Amino acid sequence: MSFLRMDELDLTGKRVMIREDFNVPLEAGRVTSDARLRAALPTIKLALDRGAAVILLSHLGRPVEGEYSNEFSLAPVAEHLSGLLKRPVKLEKNWLDGFDVQAGEVVLCENVRFNKGEKSNEEDLARIMATLCDIFVMDAFGTAHRAHASTEGVIRFAPRVCAGPLLSRELFELEKALTDPERPMLVIVGGSKVSTKLTVLESLMSRVDELIVGGGIANTFIAASGYDVGKSLYEPSLIHEAQRLIGMAHKEGGEIPIPKDVVVATSFSKDAKAQVRPVDEVHSDEMILDIGPLTAAKYATMIQNAGTVIWNGPVGVFEFKNFAAGTRAIADAIEISHAFSIAGGGDTLAAIDQFNIADGVSYISTGGGAFLEYVEGKKLPAVAALEARYKI
Ligand code: 3PG
Ligand code: MG
Repeated sequence: MSFLRMDELDLTGKRVMIREDFNVPLEAGRVTSDARLRAALPTIKLALDRGAAVILLSHLGRPVEGEYSNEFSLAPVAEHLSGLLKRPVKLEKNWLDGFDVQAGEVVLCENVRFNKGEKSNEEDLARIMATLCDIFVMDAFGTAHRAHASTEGVIRFAPRVCAGPLLSRELFELEKALTDPERPMLVIVGGSKVSTKLTVLESLMSRVDELIVGGGIANTFIAASGYDVGKSLYEPSLIHEAQRLIGMAHKEGGEIPIPKDVVVATSFSKDAKAQVRPVDEVHSDEMILDIGPLTAAKYATMIQNAGTVIWNGPVGVFEFKNFAAGTRAIADAIEISHAFSIAGGGDTLAAIDQFNIADGVSYISTGGGAFLEYVEGKKLPAVAALEARYKI
């Protein structure tokens, strides 16, 4: 991979715009897991030390484009980051109109997804962003799989562009880990929707030896196996696809295991009463919120027997303590396993923090979807754009 790196450039007195991935979980206006913010600190500090005027860009969540909303404001991130950096971080709301920033100062631009054209990668928008900086630093590994105006587009037009230290390190570590991995290679993919991960699941199947699905994705697979999932979050329209993937796994001599037991409740809340049920006994008014103990033990054994474990996404609603046991079992098994383990994704990082197992994971990536697409062997558009600029 060849691209210019931030440490090769003179940043003194320059307006240095760094695309970050500050898409962190929030609760009641506070950051509940700051792993992605901490991962960004060395880059920001380096830029400040080198005399840059630092401009930070990030998205947060998936707001309606073109509309400001408090819910998706980066204000809590600005506040938290200011605490970590021990210096003011000014949140700039109407940043596309231009703003002042001096060397040694940090400005955080409000959620890039409030701008129309961000996700469709409008050239006009990317060009405006490009005029606001002297140097654009792509450091958001977690968003490098999105060809958006603030990731791929701006790279084509900014005066100078380079990769930040976090992005460089992520790519280096993942390439090292995935070249000739120790077998069997087990991948755990959680998350709410099959639809957003369909192609990932499909191409992973040919690259890995075992695949465990969790969360809402697992619910669709449970339904696809003929069980009633009651009120669970699942995607009825994708049952056929799930069946096809189960069939593909069988053909390759493997399986996508279906939980034998699950933890259910009649409401989605942190105080909901949890009940363990065999997977074929879920009531019509219940929703599946975690895997049961038998299933957790089976998955833990699979982890113990693996040579490489890739973990992206929890298997239950671990934020609620009654439904955290499944994800905790996965986390504990990874912690004690001798397998080379890689974990990534916003929720996964939050789970690693919550269960305090960071020291037992070989490599922790800040990427979720980006990390999976990398594992899948796809070219990340923002990285491709950096490479294209390097060649010119
Ligand atoms: C992530 O959390 O995976 C990244 O920040 C990308 O977010 P997105 O899936 O909303 O594009
Ligand atoms: Mg370990």
